[in-house]
Parts: sequence; structure tokens; C-alpha cells
Amino acid sequence: MILTEEEKAMRDGAEGPAVAAAMDLLIRYGDALGAQRLCDTRNVAGTSTQPSPLKAKLVAEGGWHKAFAVLNLDCDDPVEIPDMRVPTCQLQQGFGPDSAGVVPYPKEFVELQSDAEAFYGRRGVNILATCTPYQVGNLPVRGEHCAWMESSAVVYCNSVLGARTNCEGGTSTGAASLTGKIPCWGNHLAENRFGTHHIRVESGVRDFLDWGMLGYFAGELVQDQRPVVTGEFTRPDLVDLKHFGAAAASSGGVELYHLPGITPEAPTVEAAFDGPVPDAVVYGPRERRAIYEKLNDQGRSTDVDFVLLGCPHASIDQIRAAARALDGRRLHSGTQLWIMAPRALKAVADRSGYTAVIEKAGGKLLADSCPAMSRVAPPGTKVFATDSAKQAHYLPAILGIEAWFGSLEDCVDAAVTGRWRGGLR
Ligand code: F3S
Repeated sequence: MILTEEEKAMRDGAEGPAVAAAMDLLIRYGDALGAQRLCDTRNVAGTSTQPSPLKAKLVAEGGWHKAFAVLNLDCDDPVEIPDMRVPTCQLQQGFGPDSAGVVPYPKEFVELQSDAEAFYGRRGVNILATCTPYQVGNLPVRGEHCAWMESSAVVYCNSVLGARTNCEGGTSTGAASLTGKIPCWGNHLAENRFGTHHIRVESGVRDFLDWGMLGYFAGELVQDQRPVVTGEFTRPDLVDLKHFGAAAASSGGVELYHLPGITPEAPTVEAAFDGPVPDAVVYGPRERRAIYEKLNDQGRSTDVDFVLLGCPHASIDQIRAAARALDGRRLHSGTQLWIMAPRALKAVADRSGYTAVIEKAGGKLLADSCPAMSRVAPPGTKVFATDSAKQAHYLPAILGIEAWFGSLEDCVDAAVTGRWRGGLR
């Protein structure tokens, strides 16, 4: 890889041993990827505060400096971690102290995480604690080079915002935070950002449920390539695009998609492909039905113990919609409802009275994490229902539970009756 004088100086220790270790890691990583150079970034989203047994062990041995060196810099030397060189935010993590009594999450992890927040906060990590940093203040501009983790955030960053990031890991984001550099390959390069597959919608995609199913279809079809979607659909909003991308990144590994006339790098379908438009694969009523059935093929018992909303973390409009659907109702005695949201938006929901309505019905509005990330659900859960294609995809495998997938209304109905009565309309 060709390095600038600044990068060589960092590698050689001009800014201390931690930065040298970070630059060494980025050079090894970039060489392995075949990157020609590094690019500058001032926007890193990583997960250094997320608790784990290994992190607890490393902290016990040598404090947070050692934990960061080993896990985020691939470095076994005793180095002191300086302030982050560029703006860095914490993505989702474990559950916090305010989840006690609701979420059966280990107390030692809650304490470890509080400690981590203090350590990393002092070094300039903004503890946004959400998989949707773009909802709460981290909004990169078009063309900006970023170093983000979290597949649902990466696909939103690339596709909806037109910023540029690959799906990074804990080590590369740690090294990027200390250097302001990330290997320039993949989605950072303009030639890798054009569409590869054409999907034409013929089923009238019109709401959140539909956008999730269409995303799931697209991901299955293109795997880690780049779908371009045309046809009959109502104009999507932030929430629809968030759900579409998260689903496409779950059933496949989509990191970038285009909706001509809507997403920023596709003013036209021709521009999305940078040339001839390939023949389209049709998404019609038959495909829509097949995807719905696939997302529900983990459901057997209609007795629902647990309803989960807010994956990716809910927008304030989604929280309000859930509160409206629950207003004046009461959860079934054997069913719990958790809604996951960014903590900053939970504060807005608290002030707006939405949290009170949700809690009066017996539901909980929770922040920072989610059942898939923290591998936890209400005790005794055997069957859950969700409006998230991503959670319907992952949670049965992670927790060994059955899943139902449907609309917000069907999920709230399940929370109130304890029964799954959803269906495709
Ligand atoms: Fe976020 Fe958890 Fe879903 S981290 S995208 S709520 S799986």
C-alpha cells in the first residue's frame, strides 16, 4: 500500500505506541484486502463498550487500556490509549442499569459497561448506544468516507445518505478512531457503487411491512451485490428504508442499494447502473406471499410470550405509532412487549408522553441494545412476534425460540391477546 508521509510517521511511532499499533493494523488489513491506499475519515462508528466475557477478563488483567489494545488494535504490548483522533460514536451495546428488573441481563455486564462508558467517553467516544446513529446526530454527508460497523447502519449510510463505508469490524474501527484512516477499497471507490441487479416491483409495496419483505427478497436474490429497485411502490420514508436495508443485509449481505429517483446516487435507473439496464427480476404477489411465508416458517404455536418492536432501533414516529396502537389497552398477562429505541429518542418519547402510554399498557421502551445483540429475552420465552424481518431472521437461531413476523397492528394484537392472529393482507 502507498502511504503518505503522515501515515508513515504514525506507523513509525511519531504519535505514540497506540497510534503506531493502529497504523500497523490498518496496513496489514489494507494489504490483505488489496487496497492501494488509505483514505481519511472523520466519522467512525464502533462497539468498544459492548461487554463480553473476554473483555471482562482483559480488563481484570490490565484495565481498559489492555482491553482496547488487544481487541481493537490486535496488539499485545502494554500501550496507553490516547484520545480518539477523529469523531467516534458507540453503536449498540449491552443493556444499562435502567433495564434492571425488566431484562435478565447479567449485573456484572451492566457494571462493566458503565465502566467502559466512563473510560471511552473520557477519550472522546460519543455514547450514542444505538444501531441507528443516523437517527440521533451522526449524519455523514454524501461522499464522506466513514468507518462504520453494524450491517443495518452500513447499508443506510451507503444507500440513503450516499456516504461511503465498508462493513468494518471492532479492530478496524478501533484503529480508524486513533488514526483517522481506513483502507480505501470496496464501497469507498466510485466504480464499486453501481447497481448489479435489477428488481421490478409489481405488487404495490406500500408500507413498513412491505418494505421489510421486499428487502428480504432483494438480499436473498443479490446476496452481497447491489440491487436497483424500480416499479410500483409508494415513496418510502426513513423508517421504510431502514427496514428495507436491514432486511436485505440479513437475508444477503447487501451494503448498498439504489432506488432511482429516491436515493442520492441514482437520479435515474441508467445512472444507478452506469450503463445498460439489465433485465429485471419481478417482485409480484407470488414473490411477496413466498417471502411472508418464509419469514413465518419459524412459527408453530400461536401462543405468544414476547413481542419485540424496534429493530433497527425505532424512530420517534414508530414509538408514537406503537403508543397509539396500545393506548387504552392492556397486555395479556402472559405476554411481554419490548420496544427498542436509541436512548436520545427515548428521552423525546418520555417528554412527549409516549413512554407513559406504552408503560400503562404494560409494555417497556428500552434503550442501548436488543435481544439479538445481548442474547436475552423475557424468561421462559418460547414464541415471539416481531415486525422486524431482521429479528425474525436471527432471533430463532440465537435464542432457540419460534418467531412470527407481521405488521405493527398484528404484533400489538398479539401482545394484547397473547395469540398470533396475523396474516398477509
Ligand atoms: Fe439494532 Fe439489534 Fe436490530 S442492534 S439492527 S435492534 S438486531
